[in-house]
Amino acid sequence: MTVCRDCCCGSRRKHPEVDHEGQLDRLRESLPAAHRVRTSLCLDACAQSNVLVVHPTREARRRGARAVWFGLVLDDAIVDDIANWVSAGGPGVAPMPATLTLSVIKAPATTAKR
Ligand code: FES
Repeated sequence: MTVCRDCCCGSRRKHPEVDHEGQLDRLRESLPAAHRVRTSLCLDACAQSNVLVVHPTREARRRGARAVWFGLVLDDAIVDDIANWVSAGGPGVAPMPATLTLSVIKAPATTAKR
């Protein structure tokens, strides 16, 4: 999973009410060891910050699954929903809970092929 942390995502100035480091800790602590949580520079979707991208497993990608982008990831409930979905298999494996679909955003055109 890629968690954007740059000019807007992770910014205390833009989102002072969010514990950004706590989000990363929460994800790393709740996901099984096989999952990597990495941070990235701006993913070109700042209006939707905080942005997070869940990548499919290699096997799921081979079957056609693609990365899923989430925006406005600003509270622990969304973080937990995403972590639970990833733990269950994520893109191409586990059905996405309906509540989580509300946080899905379109990948910016510049990064749509990532
Ligand atoms: S800083 Fe995250 S999309 Fe720009």
